[in-house]
Amino acid sequence: MACVSFAKLNAASSQWIGGQQSFAQRPGSSTRLATRRVSVPIRAGAYTDELIQTAKAIASPGRGILAIDESNATCGKRLSSIGLDNTEPNRQAYRQLLLTTPGLGEYISGAILFEETLYQSTIGGKKFVDCLREQKIVPGIKVDKGLVPLPGSNNESWCQGLDGLSSRSAEYYKQGARFAKWRTVVSIPCGPSALAVKEAAWGLARYAAISQDNGLVPIVEPEILLDGDHPIERTLEVAEKVWAEVFYYLAENNVMFEGILLKPSMVTPGAEHKEKASPDTIAKYTLTMLRRRVPPAVPGIMFLSGGQSEVEATLNLNAMNQSPNPWHVSFSYARALQNTVLKTWQGRPENVEAAQTALLVRAKANSLAQLGKYAAEGESEEAKKGMFVEGYTY
Ligand code: 13P
Repeated sequence: MACVSFAKLNAASSQWIGGQQSFAQRPGSSTRLATRRVSVPIRAGAYTDELIQTAKAIASPGRGILAIDESNATCGKRLSSIGLDNTEPNRQAYRQLLLTTPGLGEYISGAILFEETLYQSTIGGKKFVDCLREQKIVPGIKVDKGLVPLPGSNNESWCQGLDGLSSRSAEYYKQGARFAKWRTVVSIPCGPSALAVKEAAWGLARYAAISQDNGLVPIVEPEILLDGDHPIERTLEVAEKVWAEVFYYLAENNVMFEGILLKPSMVTPGAEHKEKASPDTIAKYTLTMLRRRVPPAVPGIMFLSGGQSEVEATLNLNAMNQSPNPWHVSFSYARALQNTVLKTWQGRPENVEAAQTALLVRAKANSLAQLGKYAAEGESEEAKKGMFVEGYTY
């Protein structure tokens, strides 16, 4: 019965494909529908075709995502690392540099923006969303409201932002966004507790369903933090647990898998572990985890960089693309695309061109890695510097 009323609740925005039956109406149920064929319900929403097209466009060969969705506070940290104040004009200048880089669309298929940037224009008055569209880059939007302590857990956190998400998503769609991002985190040294994993998975699934109902392809991102001294086997174990639970709740919320993208952490040893793993080992563990947990219906896996150096993140991606995968395996990096750019720019107008060139160098390297053809030649020392920060917030 509960499911019948859920179907009614969704009737305004979604139709249910005829002849299909929900979990609640299994054989043995006393409802009239109990004699029907048993199968998983599929939601055919108003945006189904568009969601599939958007996800495919983002997961296109040789391209990946530029993540510049830092909250104002985190963007402030980036700016202060080069001696700039965290003012709106400085954030605008930095984002303009990134989003107007000529030729960026060859390597970048989507850009995740913070709300301020989605509604912002260049200094010359051109909407950032239009700059992206011209280069065939799909605009995306960070929709979560950040992490707060999770009561009853082992010092873990949960991600806020479900209240009002549907109306906010509808507004973001009107403004030109076509995909969304929700980042929650799981900490291995803190457990993770069953409560924290369940909360992370449920929140991601609710967000994904709401995004799809509003025409936004959800990027599903349970970041398993690099923090800790554990070996790679422990990361694999936790990642398998987390993704099993995420897919369980995605299915329970009738999320259409063809219209989502994933943003996992790579499976690596903890940042404080005594031994570093090679790109081949990281690729082997990460692909093992993905093959065990991710259905081939999902079009794209867009990794986060999580504090790896720019070169490490590119080498690891390249190693994962040495043989064909069931999904597009690509990047959605923030730190691993921005580090050298920021250092080159230094807030000086005369450095903008050189900084844009630095962005193209990284974007092209990751494009090659997506195709499994990156050779790691001529990389700068700056690009080899790790960026891990303990307890990193976004
Ligand atoms: P990093 O690549 O810096 O880990 O970014 C993670 C992220 O969620 C950006 O959207």
